[in-house]
Amino acid sequence: MPSSSSKDSERNKSFKGRESACVPILDSVKSPREKLTILERAIASARNGIVITDPTLDDNPIVYVNQSFLTLTGYGADEVVGRNCRFLQGEDRRQKALDDLRNAIKETRAITCVLKNYRKDGSVFWNELTVSPVHNEKGKLINFIGIQNDISSRVEAETRISEFYSIVSHELRTPLTSIRSSLGLLEEGEGGSLSPEGKKLVEIAFRNTDRLVRLVNDILDFRKIESEKLELRYSSITARSIVEQVVRELSPTASEKSIGLVVDIKSGSEAAFKADRDRIIQVLTNLTANAIKFSGERSDVTIVVDLRRKNFLRFSVSDQGPGIPRSEVGKLFQKFQQIDSSDRRREGGTGLGLAISKSLVEMHGGNIGVDTTLGSGSTFWFEVPITRI
Ligand SMILES: Cc1cc2nc3c(=O)[nH]c(=O)nc-3n(C[C@H](O)[C@H](O)[C@H](O)COP(=O)(O)O)c2cc1C
Repeated sequence: MPSSSSKDSERNKSFKGRESACVPILDSVKSPREKLTILERAIASARNGIVITDPTLDDNPIVYVNQSFLTLTGYGADEVVGRNCRFLQGEDRRQKALDDLRNAIKETRAITCVLKNYRKDGSVFWNELTVSPVHNEKGKLINFIGIQNDISSRVEAETRISEFYSIVSHELRTPLTSIRSSLGLLEEGEGGSLSPEGKKLVEIAFRNTDRLVRLVNDILDFRKIESEKLELRYSSITARSIVEQVVRELSPTASEKSIGLVVDIKSGSEAAFKADRDRIIQVLTNLTANAIKFSGERSDVTIVVDLRRKNFLRFSVSDQGPGIPRSEVGKLFQKFQQIDSSDRRREGGTGLGLAISKSLVEMHGGNIGVDTTLGSGSTFWFEVPITRI
């Protein structure tokens, strides 16, 4: 079908494509009248609210609504036909999603957005709305169709989950952190000397509180990552400063098992690059702490940094531990996974560390992985692209 502009002909093509996609169903129906009846009934009985507007008329008014639209909003058909749909927003006209919706309508694009809407009785519902333009066979815009999905229960559940995490964060982490530091002070003899038995009990309490604090922190980090609220704070860092800090922090733990921490920063990997310092430290600490946990006494854990494919810096942490069976490797970076539950109890991990590390590395645009051989150890590595500054 010839059309006035190339944009129109593009639209036309896509319209025709969609039309022909319907043919197999509608071909079994005899007359065009019957086809229309089927479509009309289908739209009328859909569980989603459906609204059709006419942009050729002033202010794009509603020309059709189905029963579900009326049930969801509480209005009668005579109260809505002829009006622009914005009346559903009540006084709530400063919603961010409205800018996107307005632009999409102006540019005749389809869009899905979530709006806060109000029923006739004033009660709120969360409307996941998809608006699509409808063109005639010549590619001319003739209508918009809006499909409403009431997602109020999902939004409410998400709000409750957010509240729960906020309680975990404030009511659990804060007192736990304070208990841990008090126990740490007691253990160091700040509250007076303890009997050997008392010292042992305080040590156990400290270790377990520390584990709980780490678990709570991991859960909160994971939540932030999953809800995309975790933001990286980029600054200029060097691999050496990262490795040195991690080694400094983990040396006491390594010494307890007489494990040597060996560092090898290859030439070419010394220059400063841009990354979130704390998060890179978190990942390297996680890999190194794991390597220490799963290493035998008097062995070495080696941290190597080298440059790969010209602009990726790879941090590798190798241990001489038992290695990981091939069948378990796929699970390693999933949440709440530890390859053997008896290991978890013995070593006190949360099962979230590697999943968090994977997300943090990927947020930097990098990769994480493991090379492992049963009986001779594992090398966990991650690489991040280096943006020089
Ligand atoms: C087909 C269609 C369906 C719409 N459905 C809704 C709706 O259910 N709820 C709503 O708040 N806005 C809906 N809108 C959006 C409003 O009609 C309007 O476009 C929006 O408020 C932005 O424009 P404005 O700033 O002129 O109000 C719909 C728009 C179209 C084209």
